[in-house]
Amino acid sequence: MSATATAAPVNDDRSFFGHPRGLATLFFTEMWERFSYYGMRAILVFFLSASVANGGLGMEKPLASSLVSVYGAAIYMSALAGGWLADRLLGSQRSVFYGGVLIMAGHICMALPFGSTSVFLGLLLIILGSSLLKPNISSVVGSLYEKTDARRDSGFSLFYMGINIGSFSGQLVTGYLGEKVNWHVGFGAAAVGMAIGLIQYKLGARHLGAAAATPSNPLTADERSKAYGRIGMSVGAILVVGVVMFLTGTLTAYGIKNAISIAAMVLPVIYFTVMLRSPKTTKVERDRVKAYIPLFIASALFWLIFEQAANVLNIYADERVEKTVFGWEFPASWFQSVNPMFLIVLAPIVAWIWLRLGTRQPSTPRKFAVAVATVGLSFGVLALVALFGDATTKVSPMWLLLVYGIQTVAELLLSPVGLSMTTKLAPAAFLSQMMGMWFLSTAAGYGIAAQVVPFYSAENELAYFGILALCAIALSVLIWIGAKRIKKLMHGVI
Ligand code: PHE
Repeated sequence: MSATATAAPVNDDRSFFGHPRGLATLFFTEMWERFSYYGMRAILVFFLSASVANGGLGMEKPLASSLVSVYGAAIYMSALAGGWLADRLLGSQRSVFYGGVLIMAGHICMALPFGSTSVFLGLLLIILGSSLLKPNISSVVGSLYEKTDARRDSGFSLFYMGINIGSFSGQLVTGYLGEKVNWHVGFGAAAVGMAIGLIQYKLGARHLGAAAATPSNPLTADERSKAYGRIGMSVGAILVVGVVMFLTGTLTAYGIKNAISIAAMVLPVIYFTVMLRSPKTTKVERDRVKAYIPLFIASALFWLIFEQAANVLNIYADERVEKTVFGWEFPASWFQSVNPMFLIVLAPIVAWIWLRLGTRQPSTPRKFAVAVATVGLSFGVLALVALFGDATTKVSPMWLLLVYGIQTVAELLLSPVGLSMTTKLAPAAFLSQMMGMWFLSTAAGYGIAAQVVPFYSAENELAYFGILALCAIALSVLIWIGAKRIKKLMHGVI
């Protein structure tokens, strides 16, 4: 195979911290992409809910919160389509580039002060672009290494650092510019970040060699017409839903929010049914898919809580937390940078602990159970703060730092483990779809969150945070109890 032959020099290359030079290209592209993604997201809820006089869109806070959740749901749901396009038509390298261009165009739309139309067009472009970039850039990282290359995992850890350096700095810059100067200047910074990422990607592309340059499973001539037919049907179905919503007067922000939220919950059910029923799935594989279901639910609940950072916890930081240091009030969105900051510090420590424990590590279901309980605990802290405080006095920023610290530990227990477990539990015929399932668990979490977050208000904090914390702890206990059974269904996969 010519692909392996041309990829060989890339594999021997150790010029980027002992990794192939191509990893540096991908590291910085993803760093700038996350700079723009998280930077914009850090101020989105504030911008949507700010009054028109203050340059915002004047939405009610509960609706603004929900929209932030469904925006995330749409991004990770469409990653399924982006993965498919790369595998079968475009190849990952090109998908990443086109995706970046769409993302940059989306942020430019949001930077223009033309009101809600350009904002929604901008969000749509970012969703389409992320679907092409986000899943596929990881495949290119994977393709830099042979399957047996021992540097593979550490390559991914380094890549995850790039994600968090981008997220950390993007939220400080865009958060400051958006909240203190002007929303659109903040969005402009996100556009500039993505532009730098794209230029860097083009300049460094030659170092990627043949890694995922062509579709891994290209469409054959007769599959092509069938596939185009299916794409046409899917687009048609979305249009029909749109027209029906328009005719019934539900094509509003509320209606779109509910439609995406329902789709995020229904899609995984369809996927699981197809995988379980397919004649291509063997008996052992079917068991593994069954083992994946409780872990999928755990992951969805995890992200449901974790991703409230951008809406509920942002509003909490804005309204309820003391933010004045040396007489200057820092932007509420700066709290968003706490998670990536902790992650950069804690990731190597957790990796070291797993290495030390070796085979004595807890099983994947147990790690998931602890992660879900831990993320629940973070909301438990906020419930306790509500119990002992009152809604009229501001609370110390230390509480929010503690909450994000706890959540980061939980993220490290679940996020890296989840991805590698997904690849191991996938039936052979559904490998790339199963990767999409991992993103779908995130999307399902956000889809449900869109229905949950409107209930948050400063007056009902105890109930809001308390109930979610209890749900997480209850699910964690169930998974802990069922861990042995789940492990048995995994048939040797750890
Ligand atoms: N911080 C991670 C990232 O941006 C969070 C994440 C993990 C998102 C898994 C989606 C899926 O990549």
